[in-house]
Amino acid sequence: MYFSSSGSGMVKQFATRLGRPVFDLSDRDVRRSVPDGPWVLLTPSYKTGNPDNDTLPEPVRRFLRNPLTRRRLVGIMGSGNRNFGAHYQAAAHHVARASGRPILFEFELQGTPWDLERAREILAELDVRFAEADD
Ligand SMILES: Cc1cc2nc3c(=O)[nH]c(=O)nc-3n(C[C@H](O)[C@H](O)[C@H](O)COP(=O)(O)O)c2cc1C
Repeated sequence: MYFSSSGSGMVKQFATRLGRPVFDLSDRDVRRSVPDGPWVLLTPSYKTGNPDNDTLPEPVRRFLRNPLTRRRLVGIMGSGNRNFGAHYQAAAHHVARASGRPILFEFELQGTPWDLERAREILAELDVRFAEADD
């Protein structure tokens, strides 16, 4: 799981509670690395004042420049805030559309304990699926 988080660090809080290895895209070395296998992106959305500007955090955009990184992406989780209406989860939707990968899960802000549990389940299911694929 690779995540981007800023501001209040709500995504970081969620990610570090998943109980699995997570990599913070605010770290330059992480951003420059390539995942060595299937990976999941967790991103917030940030609408700026500029209507032409989309909501994808810059660290995510940079990380996704590498074609191998893009190929190994299996799905996206998003953190957003419904107050943003039509822009709710815009960054996650943008990556899903551009990559053809599914949105695996969406939650608001730092997520509820139920959200955390559900995200853990989804990731555990992927672990099983990819372990089988390796056999
Ligand atoms: C300036 C600003 C713009 C935001 N724009 C959006 C948006 O367009 N869509 C959305 O779903 N959430 C939006 N959010 C909500 C954040 O994506 C959400 O709070 C997320 O949990 C923040 O994670 P972070 O604290 O780890 O950066 C915005 C929040 C802020 C502060």
